[in-house]
This record gives sequence, C-alpha cells and structure tokens, in this order.
Amino acid sequence: METKLLDVTTENIELAAALIADGKLVAFPTETVYGLGADAMNGRAVGKVYAAKGRPSDNPMIVHIAEKEELARLTPVVTPIMEALMETFWPGPLTMVVRKMPGIPDATTGGLDTVGVRMPSDEIARKLIRKSGCPIAAPSANISGRPSPTKPEHVVEDLQGRIDAILMGHDCQVGIESTVVDVTDDIPTILRPGIITQKDLEKAVEKLGKKVEMDPALFVNRPRDVSDKDFKPKAPGMKYKHYAPKAEMLIISGEISKVKAEIEKLKAENEAKGKNVGVILFGDHQFKEAAHDFFAKLRDFDVQAVDMILAGALDSNDGVGFAVMNRMLKSAGYSILNV
Ligand code: TXA
Ligand code: MG
Repeated sequence: METKLLDVTTENIELAAALIADGKLVAFPTETVYGLGADAMNGRAVGKVYAAKGRPSDNPMIVHIAEKEELARLTPVVTPIMEALMETFWPGPLTMVVRKMPGIPDATTGGLDTVGVRMPSDEIARKLIRKSGCPIAAPSANISGRPSPTKPEHVVEDLQGRIDAILMGHDCQVGIESTVVDVTDDIPTILRPGIITQKDLEKAVEKLGKKVEMDPALFVNRPRDVSDKDFKPKAPGMKYKHYAPKAEMLIISGEISKVKAEIEKLKAENEAKGKNVGVILFGDHQFKEAAHDFFAKLRDFDVQAVDMILAGALDSNDGVGFAVMNRMLKSAGYSILNV
C-alpha cells in the first residue's frame, strides 16, 4: 500500500479527515504521542488498525473526541467525577475509562463493556476529529511492542506501506502516553500512569470527597507475559511486552553519584569488549524532560545500532518520575541493578 506523507495544511487535514470517514487509516500528531486513527464507529476500519500494528485484538483502543459534549454520546451517564475530571484536564493527556454505549463496535473496545475516551489538546488532532465527523479510535502509531512514536519520522519508520496516510506534524510535547483513569467505580483508579499524576487527579475530585487509587498491577515490577495468571492489570495493554529497543537494556538505581560511577564502569567494560553502549541519564528532577525524550532516545539508539543501553533510574516518588519509570522498566524487561 502506498502511504501518503501529508504536510500539515488545511487541505491535507481535510484530505486526512475524508480518508478516516471513508474507513481508512491515518496517523496524526497529538500532544502525547502520535496516534493511528480510524473511525471508532466502524468496526471494519478499526480491525485494520490491529492488523497494521500487529496488535493483539483484546487490547482496546482509546476513542478521541473534539468536544466535551461528545462524551455523552459514548457513555450512558456522565457522573460528577467525570464532570470534575473533564473540566480540569480536558482538552489534555487524560483518558477516562467509562461504561460504553451499545453502538460502539466490539473491535474498538476489545469486547469490553467499557470504553476509553480522551479529548486531546493538540489542535491538529482536534481539527482532524471535527472534520472527519466521527470519534477517532487511535492507539499509539507504532508497531506493537516498539517504543511509542513522538516524531513524525518514527511513524514513517514503523508504518510506511501499512497505512493510508501520515499527517507529518510536529514533535509531541509530552512524549509519553496519556494517563488512563477508570471512572466506572466510585473510586477513580489509575490504570496507566502519565504526566497527569495521582496528586493532580486527587486535587480535582477532592471537593467530591474522593480519593484516587492506583491499579496494584502498576507495582508488580517483574517480567510477565500473557500466560501469567497472577497478573491481571485492568488495562489489557499493560500486560504486553512494550517499548522494546533492539539493544539489551539495564537500569541502574541508587544514589546519583553511585549510579553515575556504575554507568561509567559498565560502559568502559562493555566498550572494551567491542560493544556499542548508549547511556540515558536525565538531570535530577528533570521529570518532564525525561518524559519528553525517553522514547525518542530509545529509537535513536536503534538507528545508531547500539548493543547495550545503560539507564539511570528516576525517582518514582514523583508522579511523573513514576510514569517514566513505568515505561523504562518495561523497555528493560525489568532488568534493574541497585547500587
Ligand atoms: O496518549 C495516548 O493515550 C495515545 C494517543 C494516541 O492518544 N494513545 C495510546 O493508545 O496510548 P494505546 O492504544 O497505545 O494505549 C491505550 C491503553 C492500553 O493500555 C489499553 O489497554 C488501555 O489504554 N485501555 C483502552 N481502553 C480501555 C478500557 N476500556 N479499559 C481498560 N483499559 C483500556
Ligand atoms: Mg501503545
């Protein structure tokens, strides 16, 4: 299939919207990562997204809308918790898992009776949704298991020849995927951490007398696979192998000066063996920068044919640090060295 690479112009956004409305697949920028979009109400179109990404079909998609009012068309009841969260964080990098309306195809929700909904802040994304006239189902626009794409060239690398078009926009500002919060129960629960943290969410629902919990599966830091019966995260996507760079990867955790010394030592040892070693070490408290750069660094190392990646752990007591560590641990297959 020939993939159209489209510069972002008004005409091209209209062309991309027409392709989506016609059941085709278009990748587009959002503030978090690039998405691979299809008409969320067209099960056949959504089915093609799974095929293009090589994605397991039980993994539900996030449905993207352009206006807050559209939420009421996707879920039977908009609760006060949902109101408070959408007033505070939409448009922006927050996905709410809500009960779904019957008309939403099973392909979109992986057969669940809930649906993840997000209103992105990115203007190109919102124009595309508005012009296509339908909500857009969009997972991250990478081959399943690869790092999420934060630049248009990442999407080209993974999906050229597999989808109909790519809107070649800007680099993504946030760099990690949206926070996913389940609001189907009385207590909102974070299923995937992101730049909007537990503290941020609690502040927004505090006036309703609510706390926010974390899915306990987020604290299980060991390799796992689909057959691991003890491990049942509520977001199906959290159980798959993710973000894997081509190189072997090790995280070094501990006091910063010791971490730096250990990285220098391991780097020298491995270079002496002829290995090409890449280092990821973010500045102290530079959590947002880390989120912004992490996936792009993994992809850069792939291009540079790095054999081994040594990464300094981030402080997981910070909410954004925790979110980046969630991705870093998965990329490294949970290999961590404490110094
Ligand atoms: O920032 C983002 O969320 C990006 C951009 C494109 O918007 N999208 C994204 O989609 O990261 P994806 O498909 O790569 O990740 C969606 C995550 C998966 O872990 C999935 O299992 C979970 O959200 N999810 C979606 N719908 C769900 C539902 N109904 N119940 C539980 N988890 C759900
Ligand atoms: Mg993804």
